[in-house]
Amino acid sequence: MILEILHFPDPRLRTRAQFVQKVDKTIQKLVDDLFETMYQAPGIGLAATQVNVHKRIIAIDISEERNQPVCLINPTILTRDGVECLEEGCLSLPGIFEEVQRAKNLTVQALNREGEAILLTTEGLLSVCIQHEMDHLEGKLFVDYLSPLKRQRIRKKLTKQTEKSS
Ligand code: NI
Repeated sequence: MILEILHFPDPRLRTRAQFVQKVDKTIQKLVDDLFETMYQAPGIGLAATQVNVHKRIIAIDISEERNQPVCLINPTILTRDGVECLEEGCLSLPGIFEEVQRAKNLTVQALNREGEAILLTTEGLLSVCIQHEMDHLEGKLFVDYLSPLKRQRIRKKLTKQTEKSS
């Protein structure tokens, strides 16, 4: 099922997500819907927060072929090092792309779609993507790293777009 994606500056994007207590059928259905919504958009990452479900679940696929889904439930970053600066976009901020500085290498602990504990070592784009999506779970957006002036300009641009399309 395709879910509706919230757009900045929707205040619901500022909600802090809750830990998933048990990976059951309802959670797995949500995971599947997140991937379907992300692939359809199309995007390379989507957090549950962005579809107004405030649970700690993220869906990522950075592969060209769109066949390497990475589902992280209750993700925790155990180690981070190095610096990576990439231009980021977000399905909640259509048409906005800005450089953000992140850690380059991560080790991440999480549960997968089956509820099994997994440990991931990531670098580059995948690391950036994980940090970006995990920010969503804290109610944080990549524009928060930009200057207030830049953020204000983006807010105006997106508000205008919303007015036009509604
Ligand atoms: Ni995003």
